[in-house]
Amino acid sequence: MAFIDLKDVTKAFHAGEEEYPAVRGVSLGIESGEFVAVMGPSGSGKSTLLSLVGGLSHATSGIVSVDGIDLGSLGPNKLSDFRREYLGFVFQSFYLVPYLTALENVMLPLTVQPGMNGTAGDAAQEALRKVGLAAKSRRLPSQLSGGEQERVAIARAIVNKPPVILADEPTGNLDTKTGDQVLDMLQDLNRGGHTVVMVTHNVENAKRAGRTIEIRDGQVVSN
Ligand SMILES: Nc1ncnc2c1ncn2[C@@H]1O[C@H](COP(=O)(O)OP(=O)(O)OP(=O)(O)O)[C@@H](O)[C@H]1O
Ligand SMILES: [Mg+2]
Repeated sequence: MAFIDLKDVTKAFHAGEEEYPAVRGVSLGIESGEFVAVMGPSGSGKSTLLSLVGGLSHATSGIVSVDGIDLGSLGPNKLSDFRREYLGFVFQSFYLVPYLTALENVMLPLTVQPGMNGTAGDAAQEALRKVGLAAKSRRLPSQLSGGEQERVAIARAIVNKPPVILADEPTGNLDTKTGDQVLDMLQDLNRGGHTVVMVTHNVENAKRAGRTIEIRDGQVVSN
């Protein structure tokens, strides 16, 4: 069984009377330490696939497991423990909290862990240093550029040192230069041992990954 393992996974959404399968019978494995790009047309099921791997939604049928943990068997509390322990999420819209500073945004995943408050600030400052924003940790998101906000979101995703980083179009809103910096950072994290799964529309971006999984109409067409 692979580190991230999908066995005949289907995810169907209900739209009124109709049932729409966004992911259809997908089986695939991703080993620990891989950097994988996920490509495919708009609406092909890429984000849905990422949300299944991230335990943000349950499969309609089939088995999704990470590190041997069957995500379908976990209730809401266990699932949120799993996410905190294993995952860092980087999304296209950064979801930074507007009234918290960069440092406080990065501290968020830590402050929910009992006993972590003493060192949460240090860990968050260290994560901001890694993304080149140590000097701007006291700024609000509105006082940062788009690329800087994205880097705060990456710092927040890595502050827990999660084994797996899931990134959905992490460069979608960025100019080429800033996007390249974000990709450099994901590559560095991967070299540091993190498994990275990145959805992208961009063939050049996908070349950063060791392997590309192609999705069409909810099915894997090559990997
Ligand atoms: N919550 C939902 N309810 C109903 N249908 C949904 C829901 N989320 C996604 N879908 C549908 O499932 C299909 C796959 O959506 P998904 O967001 O995974 O596509 P995507 O490959 O990420 O597309 P994009 O590149 O545009 O982000 C689409 O047809 C979409 O309309
Ligand atoms: Mg998407």
